[in-house]
Amino acid sequence: VASVAVVLPAAGSGQRFGDHANKLFAHLDGRPLWTHAAETLLRRVEVNLIWLVVSPQDHDRFADQVSSLSQPDRVRLVIGGAQRSDSVAAALAEINRSSSEATRWIAIHDAARPLLKDSDVSAVFECAAQTGAAILATPVTGTLKRGSGDNSACQTIDRRGVWVAQTPQVFAVDVVSQAYARHRGRPATDDAELVERTGHPVSLISGAADNLKITYPEDLAVAAALMQTRLS
Ligand code: C5P
Repeated sequence: VASVAVVLPAAGSGQRFGDHANKLFAHLDGRPLWTHAAETLLRRVEVNLIWLVVSPQDHDRFADQVSSLSQPDRVRLVIGGAQRSDSVAAALAEINRSSSEATRWIAIHDAARPLLKDSDVSAVFECAAQTGAAILATPVTGTLKRGSGDNSACQTIDRRGVWVAQTPQVFAVDVVSQAYARHRGRPATDDAELVERTGHPVSLISGAADNLKITYPEDLAVAAALMQTRLS
């Protein structure tokens, strides 16, 4: 792929992280959590710009931290919305307004996934170039139960062919723009779901299982340990 615009959603409230400040400001290996994925993606020659989607209250703090990145001029800030899909939609609208001719691909990556591997980025970019839509994912390893209202197990779900979606999720501009244009109401927790609803197939690329999304404070300790093992 070439001419990729990266959307980096960072406008979440981080309620499950428990802290009052955005979890993305927590430090990992001596710098804000969100800057890890940003730097990995800034190293890609295919990427033109990173659109960092932030909440109004966090805007100034993010703007300040952007200026400490290796290439701040390749990052733009966008104000997000209440749901993750509102935040992505806001970025897509800005991209369409500002640079629609130059952008051919959209890669959406949670700012809360700091351990993104360059080889996984290559794999998902290459696959999207062939199929128009590809996401990183990992096959489910646990046993899945559906619980009833009183938390008793009422069904064991066959895990064969079941995957956990990750990011990046990479799409041709037209594919993702059409998916978001048709999106009405029902929230989606990832972008691929909206593309699937249009009938466009989405390829699954088996990525590293440690491409963790930081959700709880203990995830940060795990990410720090994993980062140490990668560095050593
Ligand atoms: O809440 P969760 O961690 O699943 O969110 C995934 C990513 O989407 C995070 O990086 C978060 O900041 C972002 N997000 C967003 N706008 C929202 C909700 C989440 O940009 N309204």
